[in-house]
Amino acid sequence: MTLTPSRPLLPMTGHTRGNRSAATCHFKCGDACLKAEGSTSTSPSFAAVAEASLSRRNLLLGLGAVAAAAGTVTAQPAAAAPGKGGPGGGAGPAAGTATVGPKGLAFTPIAAVASTVDQMTVPAGYAWKPIISWGDPVVQGAPAFDLDRQSPEAQEKQFGYNNDYLAILPKGRNRALLVSNHEYTNENLMYPGFTSEEALTPEQLRTSMAAHGLSVVQLRRGKDGFWEVEPSKLGRRFTGLSTEFELRGPAAGSDLLKTAKDPSGRRVIGTLNNCAGGTTPWGTVLSGEENFDQYFRGDAAGDPRNRDTYGLVDKDGEVGNGRYWYKADDRFDVVKTPNEINRFGWIVEVDPHDPRSTPVKHTAMGRFKHEGATTIVAKKGNVVAYMGDDTADQHLYKFVSRDRVGKGGKGGRSELLDAGDLYVARFSAEGDVTTDRDGTGEWIPLTKDGRSAVPGMSMEEVLVFTRAAAAKVGATPMDRPEDVEPDPRTGYVYIACTNNKSRKAAGPANPRPANKDGHVIELREQGDDATGTRFDWSLLLVCGDPADPTTYFSGFPADAVSPISCPDNVAFDAGQPGLWVSTDGAPSAIKRNDALHYVPLTGAERGRVSQFLAVPAGAETCGPWIDAADGSVFVNVQHPGEVDGALVDRPVSTFPYTDASKRTPRPSTVQVRRTGR
Ligand code: FEO
Ligand code: CA
Ligand code: CA
Repeated sequence: MTLTPSRPLLPMTGHTRGNRSAATCHFKCGDACLKAEGSTSTSPSFAAVAEASLSRRNLLLGLGAVAAAAGTVTAQPAAAAPGKGGPGGGAGPAAGTATVGPKGLAFTPIAAVASTVDQMTVPAGYAWKPIISWGDPVVQGAPAFDLDRQSPEAQEKQFGYNNDYLAILPKGRNRALLVSNHEYTNENLMYPGFTSEEALTPEQLRTSMAAHGLSVVQLRRGKDGFWEVEPSKLGRRFTGLSTEFELRGPAAGSDLLKTAKDPSGRRVIGTLNNCAGGTTPWGTVLSGEENFDQYFRGDAAGDPRNRDTYGLVDKDGEVGNGRYWYKADDRFDVVKTPNEINRFGWIVEVDPHDPRSTPVKHTAMGRFKHEGATTIVAKKGNVVAYMGDDTADQHLYKFVSRDRVGKGGKGGRSELLDAGDLYVARFSAEGDVTTDRDGTGEWIPLTKDGRSAVPGMSMEEVLVFTRAAAAKVGATPMDRPEDVEPDPRTGYVYIACTNNKSRKAAGPANPRPANKDGHVIELREQGDDATGTRFDWSLLLVCGDPADPTTYFSGFPADAVSPISCPDNVAFDAGQPGLWVSTDGAPSAIKRNDALHYVPLTGAERGRVSQFLAVPAGAETCGPWIDAADGSVFVNVQHPGEVDGALVDRPVSTFPYTDASKRTPRPSTVQVRRTGR
């Protein structure tokens, strides 16, 4: 059967779309694969550019031989004990017992874990503990988690569902603030007796709204070195249900953003589908509103700029049901409140240090399905934010602030994000083939000096309907750009393109007619100027099972790397070099649990992918936060047990419990810590 957004959810048996189970596709992306959101850009797709590049590299640099010499992968058993290294489950790295990793986080790569294993798997000499789970108290006075007594009021004070982006912000040696996104909800794993989304009560719908957003909790270091939650006045929830956000920047107050309840066009209730994020030089957190369209009942006759470009109808013209949220609140019905949807799809900023601060939605950074935003201070002092639009054939962006900060980010403040230029990327295969760069590219302005740079579109239209603006100027359609993050040491930018099954490949040099495993691009701004408009780029990783001859690991031998599929989040440690890459989709793509990998970026080890951990069955590895000096890695274990047909009392995962009698899994933040040598 084929599910559509307007039909009841269950049962779901064996149906997959692209790399995802029907459950993942439905809950996570609002059935994005069924919708028509393709770029109308006439620019050659990134696929075509990358194919040409790979072909040239293989020819000129002899990389074809490396790719063809795919090695045999060997299973590597590991100790199996709850909370310590877990079971290997199948194909794994051929790295043997070699130790890899940066100073403070040396490890022996684990074998890739079969997607049926419901266990957190970490390297030998490391142990793990959950810090906080869905439903745990966040705000002082919150009730303890009780699966059978959920309410919007309780959930608004408790840790939300499906934690994604994660930041652990130090407050001295023994205190820290944990900031986490809560991207979406799995109602079938939340509510006992769930039968279908259509049958959810308004109370349950409001509880789900409250389970979206972000959480802030204070941590203290426990006696064993692991962090634990400490009740604090800084404990705070931002929710989809009731938190007021201020719209700021050039589009704030626009007619496109006004509603009957907010004639100012500047005050929005709630944030939704917060996926990845980043920190700012002034200590706040940015978070991307991603697949926001799924909460709105569409209007086939409505504004085509939302209907077609942002996915309010599916490929058959069927109008989405918005998860039935309109039954609890009219603003989620596009017919009744046409502009409400325009108030979502932004980069939001929260200040975890000030519990009374009003969170912001930044219109200068454009509206699309924002994966996240990461910042770097350019040499000239401008703050530059890199951003991906995570939908097949959508685009890569950067924002350059008009105003500047002093050395070390001095003088940085939220208002820097209110004024600046928004650019979108166009990639070219043209480049200097005598270098190790694969091609060049151009940042095309969408806004410049406070004005629209797109013919036929006003400034407000460019910022509210940014996808249309990007397509109009010939931006390159990408293979779902997710996290985009600059290396704080070099300024080189790493772009995780998670996959694109619908990609039409051309040419024998790229044997990936449907990119099911994704790739990672390295972008270097020309002249090392993050404010500039020209860049060079290379493929760092072309992901997949190393036995697949189409994979590429920057020339590192394929028989000595871990399998890696569907890169999603990328992260750097403040003190040690190297890229950390987490994955979302490996269970479907390569039948392995999602993972966290470490990849050196320089020298002979460049491209050597080594698997650090695996999350339990049905889960995705999110929000890696690396603290090598502490010997700690933090990950958000998102949607454990998200497998077709799973229900409360019929789960396929009981994570983070080791007691299999537990009734349902709970998304959790986990600390992995070095405990041995
Ligand atoms: Fe929410 Fe792009 O992953
Ligand atoms: Ca993501
Ligand atoms: Ca993801």
